[in-house]
Amino acid sequence: MGRKACHRFVLCFGSCIYTCESAQDGEQLGEEAGMLYGEYLMLDKVLGAQRMLGVENKNPVHDEHLFIITHQAYELWFKQIIFELDSVRNLFSDVLKEHQTLEILKRLNRIVLILKVLVDQVMILETMTPLDFMEFRNYLRPASGFQSLQFRMVENKLGVRQENRVKYNQNYAKVFGNDEEAIQKIESSEKEASLADVVQKWLERTPGLEHEGFNFWGKYKKAVEVLFNEQKVIAAQEKTESLRQYRLNDLSKRREVYESIFKKDIHDALVARGERRFSHKALQGAIMITFYRDEPRFSQPHQILTLLMDIDSLITKWRYNHLLMVQRMIGSSQFGTGGSSGYQYLRSTLSDRYKVFVDLFNLSTFLIPRSYIPPLTPTMKSHLWMWGTTDNGIEENNKEC
Ligand code: HEM
Repeated sequence: MGRKACHRFVLCFGSCIYTCESAQDGEQLGEEAGMLYGEYLMLDKVLGAQRMLGVENKNPVHDEHLFIITHQAYELWFKQIIFELDSVRNLFSDVLKEHQTLEILKRLNRIVLILKVLVDQVMILETMTPLDFMEFRNYLRPASGFQSLQFRMVENKLGVRQENRVKYNQNYAKVFGNDEEAIQKIESSEKEASLADVVQKWLERTPGLEHEGFNFWGKYKKAVEVLFNEQKVIAAQEKTESLRQYRLNDLSKRREVYESIFKKDIHDALVARGERRFSHKALQGAIMITFYRDEPRFSQPHQILTLLMDIDSLITKWRYNHLLMVQRMIGSSQFGTGGSSGYQYLRSTLSDRYKVFVDLFNLSTFLIPRSYIPPLTPTMKSHLWMWGTTDNGIEENNKEC
C-alpha cells in the first residue's frame, strides 16, 4: 500500500505502512498504524506537567504559564546537552580515531546551536513584566533555578571545578538535601573526567610536540626570541628618548608574559591559582594546532577548539542575559527565592573562573606573526597531510621528523 499524507496525528516518521486515509472512520488507528504521535512522545505527561500555583491559590496569573513553560523548555534542552556531552566525552576518552573527530564536531556544533537557542529564549520570558512576576513569585518559594540539577551537571561535565566557584556556589550540592538520586548524580558528575579533562589529554598527544621529533616548543621559543630581538633593535633606534623607553618597557613586559608559558613552574603556579586550567603540554598542543590549522590534519582539531570556546562564550552570554532579566524582575538588592544575594551572587558567576576553556581564549596573547611561525620540516608536513588508518586522532609517532 502506498504512502499518503497523514492528516491525523499518527506517528508516521517515515516508516508507517498503513496510511490514515486507508483507515475507516472510527477504526482503531493505534493498533493498525503503529504508535500514535502523542503516545510516542508521552505528551500526556509533558503537556500535563504545568501546575499553575496561581490557579491553585485562586489567584490565576496569566504569565505564570509562560514562566513554567520556559523553565521546562530549558530543562529539556539541558537534558539534550548532557546527552551530547556524555557521548563526546566518551569519544574523546577512548583513543580517538581520526574519523571520529567529524562526529565530535557534529555533536559539539549541536550543543553550540542549542545554547544559542537558550541564550535567546531569555527574551521570551522578558515579555513578562516585574509586576506580573510579583503576582505569583511568593508561591514559588523556596524554589529557584539554583536547584537545577541538570544545570549543575552541565557545568560539572564541562569542567567547572568546585574550587573555582564563588563561595555561595560551592554549597550548591546542599540544595539536593535528601534526594539520594540527585546527590549521586552530582557526585559522579564531579568525579568523572570532564570534557575539559579529556580535551587536555587529547591536546597533550598533538603530533609534533615530541622533543626528539619536530620539537615544536623548542622551535617556537626560538622564534619568539628572534622576534623580540628584532623588535628590541627597532625600539632602540627610536629617536625620542621617552618613546624609546616606552617601547623598551613594553617589550620587557611582553617578554614577561611569554615567560609565563615558557617557564613551567610559572605556568603551574597560575594553574594552582585558577588563572589557567590546561596542563603545560596541553597548552603547547593548543598553540601548535592554532599555528598550523591550515594543514589538513589540524583543521578539524582547530574547529574543535573553536567550538569549545563557543560553548564557554554562550554559557557566559546566558549567565549575562539571565542576570539582566533578574535585575529587571527583582532589582539588584533583593534576595533570590533560593536564598542567595540574587543579582550580586549571579554577577559574581560571570567571572573567568567559570570559563572552562579560558586558556583557549587567552591563546591570542601568545600568537606571533605568520612569518615567524617555525616552518614545518618536509616529514612533518607530509605527516600532517596524510590521513592514517589506525591513528589515534591527530596522534602519531613521528620521531624521525
Ligand atoms: C523571572 C525570571 C527569573 C528570575 C527572577 C530568576 C532569578 C534567579 C535568582 C535570584 C537566582 C540566584 C539563586 C537564588 O534564587 O537565590 C537564580 C539562579 C538561577 N536561575 Fe534563575 N531566574 C529566572 C529565570 C530563570 C530561567 C528561565 C532559568 C532557566 C533554567 C533559570 C535558571 C537559573 C539557574 C540555572 C540558576 C543558578 C545559576 C548559578 O548558580 O550559577 N532562571 N535565578
